[in-house]
Amino acid sequence: MTIQPTGGADSAPLYAPSSEIAENAHADAARYEELYQKSVSDPEGFWAEEGKRLDWIKPFTKVKNTSFDYDNVSIKWFEDGTLNVAANCIDRHLATRGDQTAIIFEPDNPDEAAQHITYKQLHKEVQVFANVLKDMGVDKGDRVVIYLPMIPAAAYAMLACARIGAIHSIVFAGFSPDALADRVNGCDAKVVICSDYAPRGGRNTPLKSNCDKALLRCSDKVKLLVVERTGAQIDWVEGRDYKYEDMAAGVAPDCAPTEVNAEDPLFILYTSGSTGKPKGVVHCSGGYLAYAAMTHQYVFDYQDGDIYWCTADVGWVTGHSYIVYGPLANGATTVMFEGVPTYPDAGRFWAVCEKHKVTQFYTAPTAIRALMGKGPEWVEKYDLSSLRILGSVGEPINPEAWNWYNENVGKGSCPIVDTWWQTETGGILIAPLPGATPTKPGSATKPFFGVQPVILDDKGNELSGATEGVLAIKDSWPGQMRTVWGDHDRFVSTYFEMFKGYYFSGDGCRRDADGYYWITGRVDDVINVSGHRMGTAEVESALVAHETVSEAAVVGYPHDIKGQGIYCYVTLMDGVEATDELRAQLQAWVRQEIGPIAKPDVIQWAPGLPKTRSGKIMRRILRKIAENETDSLGDTSTLADPSVVDDLIANRANA
Ligand code: WT7
Repeated sequence: MTIQPTGGADSAPLYAPSSEIAENAHADAARYEELYQKSVSDPEGFWAEEGKRLDWIKPFTKVKNTSFDYDNVSIKWFEDGTLNVAANCIDRHLATRGDQTAIIFEPDNPDEAAQHITYKQLHKEVQVFANVLKDMGVDKGDRVVIYLPMIPAAAYAMLACARIGAIHSIVFAGFSPDALADRVNGCDAKVVICSDYAPRGGRNTPLKSNCDKALLRCSDKVKLLVVERTGAQIDWVEGRDYKYEDMAAGVAPDCAPTEVNAEDPLFILYTSGSTGKPKGVVHCSGGYLAYAAMTHQYVFDYQDGDIYWCTADVGWVTGHSYIVYGPLANGATTVMFEGVPTYPDAGRFWAVCEKHKVTQFYTAPTAIRALMGKGPEWVEKYDLSSLRILGSVGEPINPEAWNWYNENVGKGSCPIVDTWWQTETGGILIAPLPGATPTKPGSATKPFFGVQPVILDDKGNELSGATEGVLAIKDSWPGQMRTVWGDHDRFVSTYFEMFKGYYFSGDGCRRDADGYYWITGRVDDVINVSGHRMGTAEVESALVAHETVSEAAVVGYPHDIKGQGIYCYVTLMDGVEATDELRAQLQAWVRQEIGPIAKPDVIQWAPGLPKTRSGKIMRRILRKIAENETDSLGDTSTLADPSVVDDLIANRANA
């Protein structure tokens, strides 16, 4: 059945779910309304019921104990319950679905065989991995850094940590040795897990040698566990490095799950903010898992027998919640893809969908836009009739990309769930439910159960009706982050200081007359590059760390594929010549300091930066110049030297 657009309140097209989808989904429109009302009028009762979707060792008697009070921010869910996250993702499924595939592994190279790992096999692998970690001295509460490609061992390592109550911190395999070292030191990790190499898009990243470089900056107590991926030559540090396959051969096959409290940390994940170094977002065991499982089930309408594929990497929160924890807690079959959308060609996503008969496909707008540019013929080559639901995450999806996704991939009959959330939120907060919510291209639509979004003006007043302002959340939900690792004050000041009594998201947002939410982008100095968050301050500090750079200011600008590109204004040290060669050197330098995703798209030489008389850089002006909107610069009269702006406009790089 084809979905027909009809008009919404603000005349944006509205795509209602087909009756076929609505009838078979976990929730139709009436059910969504009923459950949503219950979830906000009686959160205790609602979440007491939902908490039961997990297997508890000691059942909780307390449900919600949360305060957004600036003087006493504290978030606890199911606080007296105990459980084990890995047992919830594996052991409890063994009786009913031991022989069902838990993970389908699709390697980077399409000629390499895919692997189907059953729940029984997953159980075996995770217990062995857990015993290897124990053998290396990892105890409950210890931190383990995981720096792996998208291979099954990444999931084994995560679940092995969870099984023994250790806290993992995954570092995206595209990050540099320096970024890795910062994260190892930031959480005082005992063990780092890497592979020899990471094959991706036909190239090979030398993860082991990156670790060798990183560990030079870390305590010599840190041990390195190396999993074989390609078998290619690597260096070896005797006494520090451990070969996984050798260790695994020497440990017992069984490992009983460790009992942890609902509020014990499950993982740390570093994410960029508007100031300073990335912060370690802490997620805990009980509430996070219940929320990831519930959102996965409802938002993707996951049903028994479905083959669910999220194309993210486990290095990002999307991979944590919607490749590993949510799907496995639900006993799902989840696809892990090692590669990229365009290797060996622009048909790879669709070839994999056809090959594994994927039913839910969840990706990022940047991937859609990149593939859109290659033409519809790449999609048409494959049979996509297994697809039922399409998902989008990471940034607002522009209506052109939405329409292309809908028409070419979904053939007009798959609801598109545009899911708004953040590393901090643990799971999806605003998204349509496939059988319940008519969609509008570009809108994340309506809140999930238990989520109360509000739109605030800049003084913190709640705005009602159709309006625009900043997006905040009024009350806690179980998947919410609990603290910043080692810095609770930073947690409070980042999210609860500016707008007292609310969780502040950092995003701007519009609400239309139908009560639909439209995310308009970050309102802080964070930019969104290919769906990945990047603090402009981080790029600036990498630039000024270069010997030729005296000052730098970084802003985002609209980029056709990436959503936002990285635009840098650089002031050089006296006497340094501004050459194209130096420009390329600085781009390579930032790439090496942070990682490929941070590579500047544009570097403009700036003899001076627009500053107020008190020395504050006026980024508003720099943004306008980067966006090429120089006729709407606004007031420049408060600048110490307004002529700086004329020079920047005259020499604007052709971005
Ligand atoms: C920021 C969070 C959530 C996992 C991936 C990114 C932007 C995310 C959407 C969406 C509009 C979105 C927001 C948010 N964002 N999803 N569906 N529509 N914007 O996680 O790196 O923590 O970034 O990504 O700006 O604040 P993250």
